[in-house]
Amino acid sequence: MDELFQTTLIFHTAFAGIVLFLAIFNYFLINDKLDYKRLVKRVRTILPIYYLFLATVLFTGLILLGVAQFTIHHVVYLMVIVWFVILMMTIRRYKKFKSLRSDDEIRRGRFVRFSKRKFLIDMALIVAMIAIAYIFK
Ligand code: HEM
Repeated sequence: MDELFQTTLIFHTAFAGIVLFLAIFNYFLINDKLDYKRLVKRVRTILPIYYLFLATVLFTGLILLGVAQFTIHHVVYLMVIVWFVILMMTIRRYKKFKSLRSDDEIRRGRFVRFSKRKFLIDMALIVAMIAIAYIFK
């Protein structure tokens, strides 16, 4: 069981790292100087990948919880909250995604600015969460 916990912990941390990498990648990928049709394509490709890795973080987190028989550290509550905040912002961004396909340049600009802010917050939350997880280990 201990081996399962340790192996899953490696995967969990690695997946959290991949979400961080994707947030950084998205931040630089999205800019309003780009032709918006290409931008729509980019968002459409990356969005499911982002959801996928968020899901793997949850999945491995739940395995860790199960193996530890829910005898968990308080930091894990914070992880769950952070995870939900990121998910909610990702859903909100998807709802706003319509505006990127509109002809209105102002609405498109708004989406790009919202996306940049969202990925900055994602990055800050994940970095803080990883730091807190190791500090209060
Ligand atoms: C973006 C969100 C998350 C990040 C950045 C994150 C990050 C981490 C890190 C870096 C560790 C390793 C700490 C260590 O080695 O002691 C860890 C452990 C853990 N995480 Fe997460 N995590 C996230 C979300 C979640 C979620 C959603 C769950 C549960 C559903 C979860 C459950 C756990 C558990 C149970 C552990 C093991 C804690 C222990 O060693 O006692 N995490 N997480």
